[in-house]
Amino acid sequence: MTDRVKIAAIGRPTPYIASGLAAAFDVQAEPSAQTRGLAVCFGPQRIDAGFVERLPQLELVSSFGVGYDHIDAAALAARGIVVTHTPDVLTDEVADLSVGLLIATVRQLPQADRYLRAGGWLQRPYPLTPTLRGRTVGILGLGRIGKAIATRLQAFGLTIEYHGRRPQADAPYRYRPTLLELARSCDVLIVAASGGAETRHLVNAEVLAALGPQGVLINIGRGSVVDERALIDALREHRILAAGLDVFDDEPRVPAELIAMEQVVLLPHVASASEHTRNAMGQLVIDNLVAWFDGRGALTPVPECRELAARRRG
Ligand code: DGY
Repeated sequence: MTDRVKIAAIGRPTPYIASGLAAAFDVQAEPSAQTRGLAVCFGPQRIDAGFVERLPQLELVSSFGVGYDHIDAAALAARGIVVTHTPDVLTDEVADLSVGLLIATVRQLPQADRYLRAGGWLQRPYPLTPTLRGRTVGILGLGRIGKAIATRLQAFGLTIEYHGRRPQADAPYRYRPTLLELARSCDVLIVAASGGAETRHLVNAEVLAALGPQGVLINIGRGSVVDERALIDALREHRILAAGLDVFDDEPRVPAELIAMEQVVLLPHVASASEHTRNAMGQLVIDNLVAWFDGRGALTPVPECRELAARRRG
């Protein structure tokens, strides 16, 4: 078992993570030259080569969440530091929320709730809404979460298509080789892609125009994938119908223009935020650190660090 290895937690560790770490490690208030493991629990800090320079003993960075665009994993791997994340344990939760957000956006659930509370129903019924019926859903990023969303929406009787880096042999959905083609052929676009330089502003003015005036954008991936300015313009000029957003470019700050719009449903990045799932994610953060310092290797290294993790284990 771990012999009181010094680790630090940065960001906002949940009480679950804090107590799990304290049970196994010497938890430092701040990272220091003695820090061997780091639990990264959201927070504004970017973890890159500059950040780890002052942590010469650092072996493992265990990140809370499946997305890790706030960590330069390639730079850390080049310095012999393994990065882990928390895939799988949140897939179903995020997929459930995505479908909920889609329905809420198209059928205007928050707006109808606000209408009732404001006494509107006493005057007249809530206006008829757009529908999901007959829609084609395009998924940008058919990874674990994208697939779980697709499975759910198939059961809703909707046509599913997708775009990603490459077609997936085992996916029973039509692949569109460009995002623009996907946007042209669908009227719901769900962003389930991860963040980072490769996907930055992929959903731009042209893609939104292709989605069309009945188009609905749902983003549960990363805010950076969507050009937020282009989205605001498209919504304001009714070049798309509506948007449901769980992620934003500059969280927790959300543009006032979006907040003022009736045709958007806005969530404060809560797709995985149930107690059940956040605890499962927290447990995986702890388990990665414990397994590593027990000599069992990293449980869920990010792709950039898999080779390094296997080498260091062997
Ligand atoms: C993730 O895991 O990347 C999610 O966005 C956090 O909820």
